[in-house]
Amino acid sequence: MTQDELKSEVSKAALKYVTPGTIIGVGTGSTANFFIDHLAGMKDSIKGAVASSIDTANRLKRHGIPVINLNDVDEISVYIDGADESDHKLNLIKGGGGALTREKIVAAVSRQFVCIADESKLVDSLGKFPLPVEVIPMSANYVKRQIIDSIGGNPILREELTTDNGNLILDIHELEIDDPQNLENCLNNIVGVVTNGLFANRGADILLLGSQNGVIIKHAK
Ligand code: A5P
Repeated sequence: MTQDELKSEVSKAALKYVTPGTIIGVGTGSTANFFIDHLAGMKDSIKGAVASSIDTANRLKRHGIPVINLNDVDEISVYIDGADESDHKLNLIKGGGGALTREKIVAAVSRQFVCIADESKLVDSLGKFPLPVEVIPMSANYVKRQIIDSIGGNPILREELTTDNGNLILDIHELEIDDPQNLENCLNNIVGVVTNGLFANRGADILLLGSQNGVIIKHAK
């Protein structure tokens, strides 16, 4: 199977986690797009979806799936989204598509987080994928210096990208991530940082991995 076929298979497997009659959260990226396309086949069984980006909202709408504003919702039954990396404890790096802040918000409101990915995303240790950090535009150079001085790694401004929230992204390359939760908190403490792409305080509950031998299911310990 190609990587796209693996993404399609794993996103189809995620339909099993969609509780009929509820509002679900939908992530952003190529794997989440496959999920939205499969979800269209059962759209009448859910109340609607909260989107983690403008792109996702548009794709949901094109399929006729109701898009619901998060402020009109008390609870989301399940959040389904991809990741750039997952370790074996289901700590994630997300934000390759720049949607990390809204993704983190929707994940926080959701009772369950089901992450869907092809098997290449599972790693022993996070950090080979550059860690995205969303920053308020005027703070970008300050945050960059703070990261170099107090965290390490090599933060690089992502060219020609403005997030859905009107902010910028710094990608931290060459970072060793020994303690994902502590690093997530330290980065979020830098003034000017909106949030970062480590999902460790609220990692995935379940990871579905598309492999050549079928879909592998992993649970957070
Ligand atoms: C979007 O900002 C990201 O967090 C995506 O969820 C992540 O980059 C995975 O994307 P793919 O499914 O395209 O690999």
